[in-house]
Amino acid sequence: MKQDLQLWQLLPPAQEEIIAAFQEDLAAKLAGSASSLSLLPSFLLPATGQEEGDFVALDFGGTNARMARIRLGGQGRHKVLKQVSKPLGVHLTAEGHAEGLFDFLASLAADIVEPEERLPLGHTFSFPCEQANLQQAQLLRWSKEIATPGVIGQDVNQLLREAFARAGLQIQPVAIINDTIATLLAGTYLLPGTQIGSILGTGHNTAYFEPSRNMLLNLESGAFRAIPGNEFDAALDAASLHPGEQPLEKRVSGRYLGELVRLALLKEHPHCGLKQPYCVTPFHLAAWLHPGERCPFPLPPDVVGTARQLAQWATWRSARLAALTYVALFRHLGSSGPIAIDGSLYEHLPGYASMVRVTLEEHGYRIPVRLLKGGSALGAALAACAASKNLL
Ligand code: BGC
Repeated sequence: MKQDLQLWQLLPPAQEEIIAAFQEDLAAKLAGSASSLSLLPSFLLPATGQEEGDFVALDFGGTNARMARIRLGGQGRHKVLKQVSKPLGVHLTAEGHAEGLFDFLASLAADIVEPEERLPLGHTFSFPCEQANLQQAQLLRWSKEIATPGVIGQDVNQLLREAFARAGLQIQPVAIINDTIATLLAGTYLLPGTQIGSILGTGHNTAYFEPSRNMLLNLESGAFRAIPGNEFDAALDAASLHPGEQPLEKRVSGRYLGELVRLALLKEHPHCGLKQPYCVTPFHLAAWLHPGERCPFPLPPDVVGTARQLAQWATWRSARLAALTYVALFRHLGSSGPIAIDGSLYEHLPGYASMVRVTLEEHGYRIPVRLLKGGSALGAALAACAASKNLL
């Protein structure tokens, strides 16, 4: 193969530069100066362990929507009593519209609550939002190639409330949170002392507890800029829906990783047939990364060899970049603690979790990194509980 590892590798000096730049960007934002990071307030503290009661959780991710009825029993105890999950499909495209999207979300409740039940709902909404309190959130911009018109600038929970009213349902959306905040909140409930919540799935982003603000904050770290890139990063960005936005997310997350590998593979083997943009997904990467797994595409053996190599390099870079931002956060905090992570890349990509762990260890952090499957829904229930207490 002609391409070399250098295009994807992050040597120790480059890693140190990335950590330092992330710390600088964070300090700048905290000081109110220009920064590629955000510090979006959640109006939430870590869980206390006293959370109890029944709540509805709505998890609006980048691919599916999930509604669940969750019983919190305090001290990390919880039970999912019912749940339903459906792909969001066309509702996320430019052909969709706000009312259709929120009616679809409200329709999920039919299997979860009786029409007259007034249960509090926590809403995990996995996009950057500006919040003035826990109940309201205005969508700042879409990410992950989502384009539904009519939502940017709107109060997302109000759109949901209106959809419930149209459906004749009494559920009360009382809290709205980012999925990183949900994962962090769930982490603090299950493993007190958790300091970081992160998503490594279709999208990528991280939240942490900032002592000087006494609040869980959403960094929107997918927008972090000070990272090296190669020609494939540039090509992917130029052809994306929002060029110039989300540089870290475009190198790390599952929405883009397969496409980066496809672009690199096409350069080596222009006639390999993988012409369709985004036809390589994390599902295909997983097969390439798994020794002995059959290739998901009908490709000649030499092309498969290159695909495996490129998948390895791109995956290592993704896991390393994410882990370096956690290192930067620990250095900023002057302490370290458990990390809670949710998302399909971290869960399913062979070797990914250990790549994150190895990178943390290389930088001196031997700490628990916990996969929080369903953390977004549990976090939504915990936020609804916090909001209902505040509303009493
Ligand atoms: C969004 C974040 C979200 C992340 C993970 C990104 O595209 O901007 O708000 O937390 O995806 O779902």
